[in-house]
Amino acid sequence: MPLSTIDPATFRSVLGRFASGVTVVTVRDVQHYDHGMTVTAFCSVSLEPPLVQVSIGKAASLHGVLGTGNLASQFAVNILSSKQEPLARRFAEEHPDRFDGVGFTRGVTGAPILDECLDVIECEVQSRYEAGDHTIVIGTVIGTATNEGSPLLYYRGGYASLQR
Ligand SMILES: Cc1cc2nc3c(=O)[nH]c(=O)nc-3n(C[C@H](O)[C@H](O)[C@H](O)COP(=O)(O)O)c2cc1C
Repeated sequence: MPLSTIDPATFRSVLGRFASGVTVVTVRDVQHYDHGMTVTAFCSVSLEPPLVQVSIGKAASLHGVLGTGNLASQFAVNILSSKQEPLARRFAEEHPDRFDGVGFTRGVTGAPILDECLDVIECEVQSRYEAGDHTIVIGTVIGTATNEGSPLLYYRGGYASLQR
């Protein structure tokens, strides 16, 4: 396959063929305001020490909170179950209060932990790396929780579930 200049539409389309899970990254900032955003750019980084990363777009409101470190040094990654597609949509769209009517408890970081999500990974920010129009935030894992269920997936611009 020849290498060529990549136009944005092609790049998006190629990336969309990588099936991923879906998370909502949540934060309780230093002023005790809650923030949450749908994120698929999440992955594991290291087992020892336990590290994960999320990639936050610089245009996202969460970037001013977590991407810069001005307002938060901890976060939670809520891995969504197949029943939580409405939450994935809500936390990726404009909404006057994304948490309104959404059930959650608070984790060790104080961040909202969404009811019935598949897994929760709570983190202390270890480092941040600027990467183009995103900032990669690497977190040291300080807590986890797990529920029964199947994952919500995202593939080629749509949601799907996995049965096995
Ligand atoms: C399935 C899906 C996955 C997304 N993944 C990411 C991501 O990994 N990083 C990111 O910065 N934005 C991601 N977004 C976009 C944000 O969720 C969306 O732009 C959000 O509205 C930004 O928050 P704001 O409106 O508070 O600025 C994703 C959106 C969807 C629908």
